[in-house]
Amino acid sequence: MRDILPDDTGRWRRLNQVFADVVGAAGYGQIITPLIEDVGVFTRIGEATDVVTKELYAFEDRGGRHVSLRPELTASVCRAFAQHRPAALPWKVWYTGPNFRQEKAQRGRYRQFDQVGVEVLGVDDAHLDVEVIALASEFYAQLGLTQVTLVVNSLGEPENRAAYVSALEAYFADAELTDQSRATLARNPLRVLDSKRPEDAAAIAGAPQIAEFYSDEAAAHFDTVQAGLARLGIDFVVEPKLVRGLDYYRRTIFEFQGGTLDSAQNALGGGGRYDGLVEALGGPPTPGIGFALGVDRTLLACDDEGVFGADDRPLDVFVVDVVGGAEALAITAEIRAAGLSADRGFDGRSMKAQMKLANRSGAKYAIIVGEQEMADRTVIIKPMGPTDQFTTPRDEAAQLLVKMQTEASRTESDYP
Ligand code: HAM
Repeated sequence: MRDILPDDTGRWRRLNQVFADVVGAAGYGQIITPLIEDVGVFTRIGEATDVVTKELYAFEDRGGRHVSLRPELTASVCRAFAQHRPAALPWKVWYTGPNFRQEKAQRGRYRQFDQVGVEVLGVDDAHLDVEVIALASEFYAQLGLTQVTLVVNSLGEPENRAAYVSALEAYFADAELTDQSRATLARNPLRVLDSKRPEDAAAIAGAPQIAEFYSDEAAAHFDTVQAGLARLGIDFVVEPKLVRGLDYYRRTIFEFQGGTLDSAQNALGGGGRYDGLVEALGGPPTPGIGFALGVDRTLLACDDEGVFGADDRPLDVFVVDVVGGAEALAITAEIRAAGLSADRGFDGRSMKAQMKLANRSGAKYAIIVGEQEMADRTVIIKPMGPTDQFTTPRDEAAQLLVKMQTEASRTESDYP
């Protein structure tokens, strides 16, 4: 788990704002669910999922309740749907927040990580799959990322998927696999397709393909999704070996892969259709689809591509007071009340030391208060560039700075 420091938190906030704007424009409302749920909410994700068997931060609370920190939000959203039974369908929600998985931490893989995502419940229409995928694409585009590949696949209906899993079991039983993949085969045959080990490559390349098992309906659904993406001009790659790590998927699944990250951590986000989850959590049978995008990894990809950089936190005014500091107290308060940002020196430092701070702060103006200015009820305003400083009445300083600032920003926007 790690700290996100002020240099970075600004762009976390901006990233969330971009996401909220993109999904807000499509009619999604924000949902906030608890960080902790009954552990049963998450075991419904599937007993063959690492997220559930190995990575849950589950514990018994003081009341003897078996609870867990959430490893993701899809199960929580389905639990909320089952509990509140919204009448108007589809129910379109978005979320942002931290999740917890006991994983082996490395660059792009943390035990606490943030996701932004959406879930839509109550509609089975393939065009909704397209809408959901398009929202994630639009979000990456707005961040300025260009090296993101959309990979799609369909797992078919649950019966198709089950038939495919049996076929894989039979095929891999006689195939050349590493011991690790043999162990995976016993637990979750689909995940063998995820192996990145070169010794498994030949066996995986010859494995049966999921498309051979699609029902007509599942095939038609997937065709509609692909046609819709093409219609919106969204580039994608069909990857028949894409299986995703969670057990609840059926039909459409997708992943956004970053071009700059290590292949083990290159999934910037992913999602797909699921059903059965709302029902397993006590609600009516309800189709669902959604995605979650990893904020930590997305920002690493932004770093790698040199886009969506960290904020500089520009300050309007820095107040330098060499007559005890009480004047700075009042002046900074006035400037902030007038709508500008202001900081000041503390601890009675020398003029030179405070001017150094003013420079380092990135402020556009310094206000200087010395003995003479105190006596005259004036202050010196010093633009932090080549322009000369000047003296002005103390009580007019805040308004004058607001005026100068407004004029400066008007000039900037007139002459870009
Ligand atoms: P997921 O693939 O487990 O899907 O996670 C989605 C994204 O969260 C990943 O692509 C990755 O960017 C990020 N992520 C996952 N684990 C970590 C980690 N340990 N450290 C950093 N980032 C991580 C889900 O969570 C599903 N709930 C997505 C979904 C929503 N499916 C349907 N609706």
